[in-house]
Amino acid sequence: MSAGVLDPRAAAADPWRPRVVRVLGAREEIAARGATRAVVTLQLERDGLAWRPGQFFEAGVWGAGEIPISISSPSGLDAPVHLTVRAAGTVSSLLARRAPGEAVSLRGPMGNGFPLEAWEGQDLLFVAGGIGLAPLRGLLWEVLLRRERYGRIVLLHGARSPHDLLYPWQWDDWRARGVEMRLAVDRGDGEWERHADPPRIVGFLTTLFPLVDLDPARSVAILCGPPIMIKVSCEELARRRGWPEARLVATLERHMKCGIGKCGHCLVVDRWVCMDGPVFRYDELRAMDRIEPPW
Ligand SMILES: Cc1cc2nc3c(=O)[nH]c(=O)nc-3n(C[C@H](O)[C@H](O)[C@H](O)COP(=O)(O)OP(=O)(O)OC[C@H]3O[C@@H](n4cnc5c(N)ncnc54)[C@H](O)[C@@H]3O)c2cc1C
Ligand code: FES
Repeated sequence: MSAGVLDPRAAAADPWRPRVVRVLGAREEIAARGATRAVVTLQLERDGLAWRPGQFFEAGVWGAGEIPISISSPSGLDAPVHLTVRAAGTVSSLLARRAPGEAVSLRGPMGNGFPLEAWEGQDLLFVAGGIGLAPLRGLLWEVLLRRERYGRIVLLHGARSPHDLLYPWQWDDWRARGVEMRLAVDRGDGEWERHADPPRIVGFLTTLFPLVDLDPARSVAILCGPPIMIKVSCEELARRRGWPEARLVATLERHMKCGIGKCGHCLVVDRWVCMDGPVFRYDELRAMDRIEPPW
């Protein structure tokens, strides 16, 4: 057997070979309630892994399968790998129930990630619908580690109800580091209406756009959420609010299998979302959309 096979770093670089890491901690972000599925953040052994924000792992449970999950912690910090998982179906539910000490398999990191070096000196607008905040959290955290390199940071986060908003325990810390937060929920409750801090509304995420006073010519908007949210938000920002299409960047969650351009599950026109993406500019998405909807 060659030395490379035993080297965990060599194993990490091999996209075919899952590596097995232990769960260090698990935090319930959103409890299952009514139509809401449980959302859990797993903290996993780092084991020498490095990644770009916006990349993902194929995360698996032996005997059940593996699924793509975005990395929601920064590589630039010597901290565990964070995966925020919504219990949507078979594999994600098993992952969300993993307890400290139990094993998870990881292949990757995969995908292109966000070009955050190219955005230095720019204002950043984060637009996150529901669990779409999970991949953007990794990016936001990475940006906050280099806060002085970026201009204003505005975060719009929306969900179906106040109960479905993600990471409320981190909001005060983000705001203390200069993140301007605005919240939207489809349905409020008595408690929601009693608070005005962070500023909040009842309505779709797009109804927060008039509150954004960034200059589109020197800003980048980064979007993640349900496909319809991304489509409608990009259209609104580009057509009604003057954002150049190349300054709108979205990360897609297409159905995937292999994650390495072999199975064709994620193919849109001539682009592999798993390798060419999952991060695309809106002008790229529009070019695909003329032939086949990428949403
Ligand atoms: C690049 C990428 C990053 C992702 N990041 C995260 C993340 O950080 N956290 C997270 O919770 N989920 C994330 N997802 C979605 C996650 O991969 C799916 O929820 C998962 O594949 C469902 O698998 P399952 O076996 O649990 O459910 P299944 O039994 O396969 O399906 C359960 C339900 O989920 C739907 N579904 C399956 N795959 C997807 C998908 N890709 N997008 C939307 N719906 C799907 C099915 O149609 C079905 O209705 C990401 C997907 C991609 C492609
Ligand atoms: S997931 Fe297999 S080709 Fe992209």
